[in-house]
Amino acid sequence: MRRLGIIGYGNIAAMLCDVLATDPNLDLELVSVLARPGRIDHATEALREKALNIAPEVDFSESVKAFLDDAPDLVVECATHHAVRDSVPALLRAGVETVIASIGALADAEIEAEIAASARAGGTRAVLVPGAIGGIDALAAAKIAGIESVTYTSRKPPAAWRGTPAEDILDLASLAEEAEFFTGSAREAATAYPKNANVAATLALAGAGFDATRVRLIADPAAPGNIHEYEVRSNAVNFTMRLEGKASPDNPKTSVSTVYSIAREILNRAAPIAV
Ligand SMILES: NC(=O)c1ccc[n+]([C@@H]2O[C@H](COP(=O)([O-])OP(=O)(O)OC[C@H]3O[C@@H](n4cnc5c(N)ncnc54)[C@H](O)[C@@H]3O)[C@@H](O)[C@H]2O)c1
Repeated sequence: MRRLGIIGYGNIAAMLCDVLATDPNLDLELVSVLARPGRIDHATEALREKALNIAPEVDFSESVKAFLDDAPDLVVECATHHAVRDSVPALLRAGVETVIASIGALADAEIEAEIAASARAGGTRAVLVPGAIGGIDALAAAKIAGIESVTYTSRKPPAAWRGTPAEDILDLASLAEEAEFFTGSAREAATAYPKNANVAATLALAGAGFDATRVRLIADPAAPGNIHEYEVRSNAVNFTMRLEGKASPDNPKTSVSTVYSIAREILNRAAPIAV
């Protein structure tokens, strides 16, 4: 893997370059960045220096066609749900394996179907990273054995739910104790709370599906950060996971573990033993 494509040039892309720069196994000749049309100057300013720490050549494009001209071996999407819908299918159809971080986009059944059809047509695959969550290996294996239930609870400080429909249900500013404000399926959660959809969508896709995966959303003034808990009952294994995400310094909505999860996916392709 010598030519890495990155869609997006925000918090995750910048941190990812810093993390990749520390690994001696990675031997890239090119980093190619796909920016939103009209935003190439902003992208260049934000990322060029960091990307030059991981490859001698860095190129920026604002169309998928120009991006494909750079012939990336692997593309990492860390932009937005819109980028998954608008850019990823064409990459897959061109046979380029693509790692997706904005997994909440696949809560839309049409987008999920389009991603699958495009990967099949291109003879490649879309890889969904665990991102902010862990234990996806055990959950996806349990899916093969048969799952009875998956229940996911997202617990965040009240301020983290600002700008979501939780504001219409709770007085977030004066909340003195934990309050559950949503229970429903992963599809309902991802639709009503799209900015918080990634983890619910990842669990749904790995396990019981969008309609059978249960989701609870909680605002908790005592939460030390973004807490993800889930319980799995299956024919192979029953387990409970609890992860306390640490917020990324530049974007409190993004858990730093997401950056390391994407880095692992890339570095596993460069390492002699993948784990
Ligand atoms: N899977 C997970 O657990 C997980 C966790 C955290 C974040 N995420 C997702 O990762 C994505 C990136 O997160 P971030 O913290 O870097 O966000 P960010 O807002 O800091 O950066 C996103 C960048 O993408 C650019 N962009 C937007 N639309 C684009 C397009 N169509 N093409 C190319 N670039 C485009 C933006 O201008 C911005 O620079 C988000 O969609 C977020 O939901 C996933």
